[in-house]
Amino acid sequence: MRQKSALKIGALELGQGLILAPMAGITDLSFRRIAKSFDVDLVTSEMVSSEGLVRNKAGTKMLLQSHAEEKPLAIQLFGSNPKVVAEAARIAADVGADIIDLNMGCPVPKVVRQGAGAALLRDVEAVASLVDEVRQVVSIPVTVKTRSGWSQAKINVLDVARVVEDAGADAITIHPRTARQGFSGPADWPLIAKVKQAVNIPVIGNGDVTRPEDVGKMRNLTQCDGVMIGRGAMGNPWIFKQARQLTKGQPLSSPTPQERLDVVRRHLALYEESLHGRQSLSGVRSRLMWYSKRLRGSARLRASLSDCRQLEDMIKLCENFFSLDKNMS
Ligand SMILES: Cc1cc2nc3c(=O)[nH]c(=O)nc-3n(C[C@H](O)[C@H](O)[C@H](O)COP(=O)(O)O)c2cc1C
Repeated sequence: MRQKSALKIGALELGQGLILAPMAGITDLSFRRIAKSFDVDLVTSEMVSSEGLVRNKAGTKMLLQSHAEEKPLAIQLFGSNPKVVAEAARIAADVGADIIDLNMGCPVPKVVRQGAGAALLRDVEAVASLVDEVRQVVSIPVTVKTRSGWSQAKINVLDVARVVEDAGADAITIHPRTARQGFSGPADWPLIAKVKQAVNIPVIGNGDVTRPEDVGKMRNLTQCDGVMIGRGAMGNPWIFKQARQLTKGQPLSSPTPQERLDVVRRHLALYEESLHGRQSLSGVRSRLMWYSKRLRGSARLRASLSDCRQLEDMIKLCENFFSLDKNMS
């Protein structure tokens, strides 16, 4: 596969441009540290409410937790009021964000009702003022993550990308589905190629990269400067290392059962650390389920995990499951 030149966002050199997508409830500090240990070039936080940050809400501030090990870190903000988002960006930069990413793609009603996330795609002027205001307040790179448009009849990502570039953003990520689509239908990769031709800032492609070989396929089809992976990395951080192996023409290595178990254990330990000793049965359960997802026998494991009421029982179940060779995909 063709070796791409390094991705550069502002002054940040980001190697091959493999990026962990922002995913609410998933890309918390513990998962970002795990992804980083598999050589991802940039990790992104869950989306953070600008209003919550500016109002100093404890739950929102928790999302800014970071660790030197995961750097560089993009903190993603959502909001619609440019002054508020800019103030939130200043707070995020002060606590050590390396990039401010602005969410212009979230279709969740709670976010859209505030005029934030994907709702911004219905108002290109609002897109411009948001980027412009944030750009004026922080000196670190500012990026935007967006979708194709609001609906099939209103695909306007080319306009949005030009506006974002003119307002001073340093890169743009495209998840080529409309807000109305949610996750249905295939991601429209050719649209990423069109954005790449329309702007001069780096374009990061996102959507349906589920196997290591998809990274090269997306790059070749779209000429994008970076590839962002979301669901394909859940319980599967190996995807970043494997994509890198393919780029270098090396054979693909799959984790042994022991390696898988070690990563699961480390993830749970980091998760507990991020909760400062508090325990969350549902949080542990969902994390264990991600790691078993692609493996044989996982449906039975998931059913047993759902019945577990003790953390120790969950861990034991998983230790048995992950230590069995027969479970390897
Ligand atoms: C559970 C979940 C939470 C997500 N949360 C966010 C978010 O906080 N901010 C955002 O920009 N996108 C969010 N996304 C969208 C992803 O970043 C990504 O654009 C999308 O999943 C498509 O990429 P993929 O096919 O690699 O998963 C989320 C997706 C999922 C599945």
